[in-house]
Amino acid sequence: MMDRDSWVSNVGFVLAAIGSAAGLGNIWRFPWLTADNGGSAFLVMYLLLVVGIGVPGLLAELVLGRRGRQTPVGALRSLIGSRWGTPLGAFNVVTTVVMLSFYSVVGGWVLRYTLLSPSGAYFAQPQQYFRHASHGLPAVGFHLLFLAIIGIIVYFGVSRGIERVSKIMLPAVVVLLGGLAVWTATQPNTAAGYAFYLDFDGDYLAAHFFDILGPAAGQALFTLSLGAGAMLTYASYLDDDVSLPRDTLAIAISNTMIGVLAGLVVLPLLISQGIGPGRGGPGALFVALAAAFSSLPGGTLVATVFFLTVLLAAITSGINLLETPVATLVDNYGMSRRLSTLLVTLLIAVTGSGLALAGPAFRFVSGPVVDVMLTVGLFAFLAIVGWVLRDDAVTEFRTGAGRLRGLATPWVLAVGWVLPVVVMFSLTTTLTSIASLSVPTSTRVIIAMVTTLACRAAVTRTTH
Ligand code: PFF
Repeated sequence: MMDRDSWVSNVGFVLAAIGSAAGLGNIWRFPWLTADNGGSAFLVMYLLLVVGIGVPGLLAELVLGRRGRQTPVGALRSLIGSRWGTPLGAFNVVTTVVMLSFYSVVGGWVLRYTLLSPSGAYFAQPQQYFRHASHGLPAVGFHLLFLAIIGIIVYFGVSRGIERVSKIMLPAVVVLLGGLAVWTATQPNTAAGYAFYLDFDGDYLAAHFFDILGPAAGQALFTLSLGAGAMLTYASYLDDDVSLPRDTLAIAISNTMIGVLAGLVVLPLLISQGIGPGRGGPGALFVALAAAFSSLPGGTLVATVFFLTVLLAAITSGINLLETPVATLVDNYGMSRRLSTLLVTLLIAVTGSGLALAGPAFRFVSGPVVDVMLTVGLFAFLAIVGWVLRDDAVTEFRTGAGRLRGLATPWVLAVGWVLPVVVMFSLTTTLTSIASLSVPTSTRVIIAMVTTLACRAAVTRTTH
């Protein structure tokens, strides 16, 4: 294996990991899902799931990364010590390639809107403009440009590229988003949006509890970059003196605050444009905000700042997605980082262009396919940590953990017993909704429990 690069400082890692987490998921996906699923009720469910699944799940991924000291394929192969490591790690790598294929297309839209905002080119007919920009050859061109930007950063490696860029871009995102939230608060007609987002609606939550659970769980994984092996890859460059539980909390809390802040900017503006419940969707951000900006004083400036913020956030997430397959080629085949960056970028240039040309495929991949892949990936991580490694995982958790060491035992019990069932339930829910089947909640709970137990028995048999 070649000499591996590593983070210059733990702060550099934490900023890069928050940069990975805070991205299009927070600014583009979260407000639209919130608008579609009852506003404040969705926010509450999402926050509960970030704490209940996201935090322990992220810890599991970081533990695997630092313990394995390699990208998913090598790490899982050496940690599990069975032939299952290779296909599971390969599944992670495929997940990052699939994710980046669609992520880079949306990144391309954002790049285009950033460049055109100073002239207000899309202000007059936001709907038609978005339809023209979102698919077809222009979308291919901007996808390639976005991909080239993240390709250049990854080409320079972890310490010289990713860490340096994250240290500048992430603080910039927070400052710009904070400024935009203040600006939004001074705009007319936003009261209804704030109320929809922040006034807790217990009746809605009770009536739609299980309908919201699926999308909220998917979003909790997506936003924390969980289940793709991307956080695992970042953690593989960490030293032993770092506290994994402390870093996990720093990443989860910062990412959640950025998501909630993004909601404070986007939702009041969306609702003021009449994009209410059920009228969201991938174009909501672009169409509704364009309309809002065009009707407000200083619109071109604010639009430019807004899309620049989204662009920076998308870049720091995109580099984590690209780093995973690139570093896998470096780790497993001894390929140079330069050649490997070039090859993976070329592959995603092709797959992303396919999605930019085919609207229905884009929607299918960016929604259900990604949800299923991340959920399956997280389930595998939990199984490895909770069922196979157990004591080793506890040791890794405790290494460098200081006063938080005491949390290792409750964590590994939750990871081995409770979380797999919850994640399997969410997978069952997503699959039944893709197949348009209406399966009663109690049946889905039973399916989740039985499947989890069967997987546990199979894993225990093949690894002991
Ligand atoms: N967390 C990123 C976002 O919210 O936009 C998306 C993401 C990045 C998901 C990296 C998964 C991943 F591995």
